[in-house]
Amino acid sequence: MSLSILHDFLDFLDASPTPFHAVENLKQMLDEEGFTELCERDSWVLQRARKYYVIRGASIIAFVCGDQDEIENCPLRLIGAHTDSPCLKITPLPDRSAHSYLQLGIEVYGGALLNPWFDRDLSIAGQVSYLNDDGELISRLINFRRPVAVIPSLAIHLNRDVNGKKSVNPQTELRPIITGGDKLPAFRDLLKRQIRLEQSKNSDVAEILDFDLCLYDTQRAALVGMDNQFITSARLDNLLSCFVAIWSLKNYSGSGTSLVVCNDHEEIGSRSSSGALGTLLNDVLVRLYPHDIARQQVLRRAIMISADNAHGIHPNYPSVHDEGHGPIINRGPVLKFNANQRYATSSKGASWLRCVAKSGGKAVPLQSFVTRADMGCGSTIGPLTASNSGIEVIDLGVPTFAMHSIRELAGAEDFSYLMALFDRFLKA
Ligand code: CO
Repeated sequence: MSLSILHDFLDFLDASPTPFHAVENLKQMLDEEGFTELCERDSWVLQRARKYYVIRGASIIAFVCGDQDEIENCPLRLIGAHTDSPCLKITPLPDRSAHSYLQLGIEVYGGALLNPWFDRDLSIAGQVSYLNDDGELISRLINFRRPVAVIPSLAIHLNRDVNGKKSVNPQTELRPIITGGDKLPAFRDLLKRQIRLEQSKNSDVAEILDFDLCLYDTQRAALVGMDNQFITSARLDNLLSCFVAIWSLKNYSGSGTSLVVCNDHEEIGSRSSSGALGTLLNDVLVRLYPHDIARQQVLRRAIMISADNAHGIHPNYPSVHDEGHGPIINRGPVLKFNANQRYATSSKGASWLRCVAKSGGKAVPLQSFVTRADMGCGSTIGPLTASNSGIEVIDLGVPTFAMHSIRELAGAEDFSYLMALFDRFLKA
């Protein structure tokens, strides 16, 4: 793998502070490669060996049709991932003024690690809907890019126990300060100003109606370590899998049908119109294979990798892993198993993928993870997609530290291993 792909990935992370932006950037990668956008409101005429994508909300499905006369005769390989990450979202009526500061009300999205949000140079991005001067309803993405918000810690002198115990009340302690002074602006006026700044036409915004805005850390994604072997950034869970999956699909040149689905709302249970429990994937599969029985036959032969990051064994906290299952960063993607189907991987599916990982060129190493028997297990879109579609799903992902922190850590070599694995999987 060339280093430039890794740097493209770092740029992608920085340019994708929200799932909406992530989908926009994935779309751009596909546009450059000649994929055609489809709209679910239209009828589709799909042609063999052609490349397409469809967007619903902040989810995207991209696929390359197989090159045989009947698409039903082509093998189907799927990769799934998710576009969302835990974060702080701004409430609908966020203005809070106290002691000459303007602060914003927030809601916590997903299972965020809250302590790392203090003392960071934060910005704001997302989708805003407004009426323009002509009374038209417009929705557009915005991104302040520069640091505009901060959640300062309380000084240790005022909280002597803080290093022994630190709990965070999300309602009262996580309100970012965005400005201060005698006369405080309204947040919606600041949004208007930002929209005018970002669009070429001036004075277009009449009234801000609603928005879906997140706070994010402006520190850029980076390679760290004496040999640059680690990647640090927000949203590695799960933009790393989204990027690698779309990259592999872009470069796919096999004869079968390959499909990548990147769903929003995984971090909050996937129950939404664009989430993995929604109808998006099945609706696209019905368009690809309109005949019920033929579709069932294709799906029973299909295999999917559900790619989502795994927990690497942390040298400071080794006891939270089962002693036989401590994945190490930069030793390869991790197959995730769970007896209670929190992960969908079956022994048959895993064994098949181990053979694929060894096929063609240098073997891609694979590690195995199972959670401790006395601890709860996370989950992901794998089991949900398996139960919704009946497809054989393998849960797998690169090992990481600090999952759901504002700054997560993964391995640069694992990034390449995942890319090599996806390339082989799509052709297998
Ligand atoms: Co995830």
